[in-house]
Amino acid sequence: MMAVLQLMLYMCVAGSITALPVDDDVVMVGDDSNAIEDSDVIDLSGLGPEAFTFPKNESGDALATWTESSLMNPEEMSFYGEGDILIPTYGRNAVRDQTSRWPNGHIPYLIDGSFNQNQRDNIMKAIADYHRLTCLRFIPYNGQRDYIVFKSANTGCWSSVGRLGGRQEVNLQTPGCVSKKGTVLHEILHAVGFIHEQSRPERDDFVKINYNNIRSGSEGNFKKSDSKRVADLGIPYDYNSVMHYSEYAFSKNSKKTIEPKTGGMKVGQREGLSRGDVKKVNAMYNCKKEEPQTGWVGSVWQSIFG
Ligand SMILES: *[C@@H]1O[C@H](CO)[C@@H](O)[C@H](O)[C@H]1NC(C)=O
Ligand SMILES: [Zn+2]
Repeated sequence: MMAVLQLMLYMCVAGSITALPVDDDVVMVGDDSNAIEDSDVIDLSGLGPEAFTFPKNESGDALATWTESSLMNPEEMSFYGEGDILIPTYGRNAVRDQTSRWPNGHIPYLIDGSFNQNQRDNIMKAIADYHRLTCLRFIPYNGQRDYIVFKSANTGCWSSVGRLGGRQEVNLQTPGCVSKKGTVLHEILHAVGFIHEQSRPERDDFVKINYNNIRSGSEGNFKKSDSKRVADLGIPYDYNSVMHYSEYAFSKNSKKTIEPKTGGMKVGQREGLSRGDVKKVNAMYNCKKEEPQTGWVGSVWQSIFG
């Protein structure tokens, strides 16, 4: 009964939420200058060489075997840094281990892949979620210097981390990477500047990694970040994060590679941004946008995301 009530409530409120305008109606709070400051730098030096290579067909071939009933998430099937992090080296003189935030949280984007209407809708729904819940603004590409382009090459699901400068790709191979909005949210969150939740330095307090079940050669995907490198932005470890690997990520034997240490917790959801995800984005981009806390919207939010 309670669940039905919550669902009805959700449907009712979700309807009104999605009806909100998603254009530039939110005032950004914070620094307006375009200069890259120290605090804008995102340090990628802890990523292994798999992150600094070029798109590979073998990742696409692996993803082509993914179906909705697969144990793993589609972005856990590629062979780049931490699975799906790729700072392509083609056409670049030097490998960069630093990128930066997007000035004012404005991210010009272009959709330039072979997506059908449903897949395109999932990309637009992901963008609408960022507009509704954060101060990030995805702006249709119109000649800006730095921008992201959504491609659909058969090289898996992957993205760079942060703003590289110039054109940068977010690859969403069809149908695997665009069958769920959450996978799109995940890849975009890399481009916004985040790595995976279970890479946090304190993750061993929260999850157990079963190295015996990890596919040979993929052990490096389970490295922890150096605490100096990753700012947690004051947000606690988040099992619900759309950036957390699933329990079967990179499994070689259909047994769990990750087990939450807190009973009853699940990891690897790809339905939507968690409260923690929203807080982290807004902390990184100095956004004072308030999430719904009270009233109808607040209680629905609580019931979905805890
Ligand atoms: C990957 O596949 C594309 C398209 O089929 C092909 O043109 C390209 O040569 C392949 N690359 C490699 C390294 O095999
Ligand atoms: Zn990822």
